[in-house]
Amino acid sequence: MQWTTPKKIAIALTLALAVPVFALFALIFLCFEIRIPSLQIILILASLALAIYFISYSFLKKYIHERVKVIYKTLTRHRGVSTDLETDLDKVDEDVDEMINERQREIEELKSMESFRREFLGNVSHELKTPIFNIQGYIHTLIDGAIKDENVNMQYLNRSSKSVDRMINIVEDLEMISKIESNQLELEFTRWNIIDHISEIFDVLEMKAKKRSVSLSVDNQSTNNFVKADRDKISQVLINLIENSIKYGNEGGHTKVRLFDMGDNLLIEIADNGAGITAEHLPRLFERFYRVDKSRSRSEGGTGLGLSIVKHIIEAHRQTINVRSTENVGTTFSFTLKKA
Ligand SMILES: Nc1ncnc2c1ncn2[C@@H]1O[C@H](COP(=O)(O)OP(=O)(O)O)[C@@H](O)[C@H]1O
Ligand SMILES: [Mg+2]
Repeated sequence: MQWTTPKKIAIALTLALAVPVFALFALIFLCFEIRIPSLQIILILASLALAIYFISYSFLKKYIHERVKVIYKTLTRHRGVSTDLETDLDKVDEDVDEMINERQREIEELKSMESFRREFLGNVSHELKTPIFNIQGYIHTLIDGAIKDENVNMQYLNRSSKSVDRMINIVEDLEMISKIESNQLELEFTRWNIIDHISEIFDVLEMKAKKRSVSLSVDNQSTNNFVKADRDKISQVLINLIENSIKYGNEGGHTKVRLFDMGDNLLIEIADNGAGITAEHLPRLFERFYRVDKSRSRSEGGTGLGLSIVKHIIEAHRQTINVRSTENVGTTFSFTLKKA
């Protein structure tokens, strides 16, 4: 039995105090040889015990329990659930412990969000700085006289224009991420044929693939090629994954899109036979701005935001995306979509 309610504590106090008080009385009676009938003794002792009980009970209730109750009520109200403190102080102990843990978790979460935010801002400004400084350099050189130099003026303007394109890429990707994160990404679910769509995307990326002599093919092992998803958003996913396989796969390599049945879902795999990604990078691959080879990605016009957008889009469809990769064998991204 736990002695944690005012009543129980008062009983404990009564028992604890009764023994010495009774002993004291007995001593006084013996010393002064007072003789009282046993019934009276019992009555005196009983009223003494009752007095001790009521005094300690009302003291505990008034000065401790009532005050704890007020604090407890305030705390539980802050938590959104207003619980009435019954009588058990043990419950207060448990609840306060739980509340402390909860607050601790919230603080940790806020701290990690804060450092994430700081890192994100740092990344954004860093990514924008490079093209801005490039443009600034070319424009200053042109102003300082290079504009009249037929050998370089067009070249400098073209390079500035490329940097502007890069900035636009970054800003568009950032806009997309901010939309996704503020839940403004509205998905328009329609029924469409994914095989037809993949061939359209192959057409769009044909030039890029040719430049690196990458061949594109489809291996369809599913029985139903219709999906229920947002066509434009899934386009973005497919384009980024196929483009990545062209950009980061081997020159003269191969990109294969495979489709498999997976119950109610369709499993879509985009596999290349490139250099692969080492295991240490895989867990962070979907993070914003994360790039395995920064300089390669930049020279390809990449922002490092593609895969994080891809993951967001797939998760907004309540589906999953995974990656597996073996060095010098290749990389495979796989995600699922609901069949229609
Ligand atoms: N198929 C792949 N093979 C090897 N590395 C890849 C592949 N796909 C993505 N990566 C790596 O993952 C990084 C993140 O990809 P992504 O977010 O699309 O950024 P970006 O394409 O802008 O560089 C790339 O920079 C690249 O280093
Ligand atoms: Mg990309």
